Amino acid sequence: MPVTEETRTKAREIIARYPRPRSALLPMLHLVQAEEGYITPDGIGLCVEELGLTRAEVGAVATFYTMYKRGPTGEYLVSVCTNTLCGLLGGDEIYATLREYLGVGHNETTDDGMITLEHAECLAACDHAPVVTVNYEYFDNQSEESAVRLVDDLRAGTPPRPTRGAPLCGFREISRQLAGFLDERPEARDAVSIAEPGLAGLRLAVERGERAPEYPEATLATTERKEA
Ligand code: FES
Repeated sequence: MPVTEETRTKAREIIARYPRPRSALLPMLHLVQAEEGYITPDGIGLCVEELGLTRAEVGAVATFYTMYKRGPTGEYLVSVCTNTLCGLLGGDEIYATLREYLGVGHNETTDDGMITLEHAECLAACDHAPVVTVNYEYFDNQSEESAVRLVDDLRAGTPPRPTRGAPLCGFREISRQLAGFLDERPEARDAVSIAEPGLAGLRLAVERGERAPEYPEATLATTERKEA
């Protein structure tokens, strides 16, 4: 579908945030997903025109990162972590159960257009393993049974509240947020995204007086030179 003028205006708003246009490519690709549901040829064309890149350059980035989808995505992207810790604690079984239950494989979407399933690498929540995310919001400490209940609720139009963080929204809306446009819902603004296991380590470090090491002078000097 041809890109609308509204999308082009938003794209230029994103580009204006960066010193060089090409730095806007990643959020621009999220914007394309917000408008089109996935990375379409017209969306790639928008990035080419507005950022002065070649189609090969945009395509190389869009196909490298798994967050950019090459086909229509459902209302909810359900990601099951099958990396080492989650896999050992049941993530592999959760993914296999959902694949069977939903009748779709990796990066495939249910016929009702509600759910796209994927197995994912570490979702950065190993202290809550096994973890499932829905549109990148966390559902911690899952089991095969709870994951089936989760997708049932999503398909029934009664999305449950994530274990922590903001309430769920649709895939296009979360893509808009990833493009850098704020989630204005008060319940999202006030949401707390860290839970007890994450705080325990911090508390221990404070009790022991531990802190992250300072950057060596040489590193700072290199960074400043690059930014100049
Ligand atoms: S291994 Fe699953 S969140 Fe890290």
